[in-house]
Amino acid sequence: MRKKIIAGNWKMNTSLQEGKELVNSIAEMIKSKPLKTMPGNPEVILFPPFVHITEILKITKKEKGVTVGAQNCHQSDKGAYTGEVSAMMIKSVGATHVLVGHSERRQYFKEDDNTLAAKVSQALDNKLTPVFCCGESLEERQSEKHFEVVKQQISKSLFWLDVNDFANIIIAYEPVWAIGTGETASPGQAQEMHSFIRNCISEKYGSEAASNTTILYGGSCNAKNAKDLFKNEDVDGGLIGGASLKAGDFFQIINSY
Ligand code: 13P
Repeated sequence: MRKKIIAGNWKMNTSLQEGKELVNSIAEMIKSKPLKTMPGNPEVILFPPFVHITEILKITKKEKGVTVGAQNCHQSDKGAYTGEVSAMMIKSVGATHVLVGHSERRQYFKEDDNTLAAKVSQALDNKLTPVFCCGESLEERQSEKHFEVVKQQISKSLFWLDVNDFANIIIAYEPVWAIGTGETASPGQAQEMHSFIRNCISEKYGSEAASNTTILYGGSCNAKNAKDLFKNEDVDGGLIGGASLKAGDFFQIINSY
């Protein structure tokens, strides 16, 4: 059965102090209303900057249903890659998830489908759950190529996996035009793409695998619009950027099923 998940991608924000304060506040709110009492029994995954992970884990390990991941990993297992972080390192500090293929990594760091496939492989080899991001640009949507683009992204970086490995993948659909712009995909647009992604998975791996895959929506998802997005059948939760930096807003999103 697929899970309801709310993930917070902090991107390159917060000092360690600010990050700890943020998580302490979220933890307090979850204490007052435990995740298991909320509709959908959601899980929460926090993606702080690498250097905060160990300290954030000290706070979250007391909170059932809250886990921590990294925003990226390198595509090689180790070696002379100054400044990079491997999946093994991420695993060794206790994180459980890793974002792969965020559009900011694709755009600013030129990560292509093959590199992302290698990152997925590294993550799985090190028993990390990849949260694989896909999504079209504004231009691609305007020229009605969005389905084709997303299908290519998931086919090239994920569909080489066997069905058992694919069972460990979480997908996040994040239309690039909606990220950080305040312009959210409408609930209809989100549902349409999520259902398309599920159909692609079904064609490749069968209907059971498709129905078990968690597909998150990301892109200007906030405390106001989360409920309308999450009530769609194929939208299993959210990957939240800006609104995950405000404890109250993030908690409200967690509580939006
Ligand atoms: P915003 O929620 O700030 O639009 O960012 C979404 C995102 O990129 C999450 O990974």
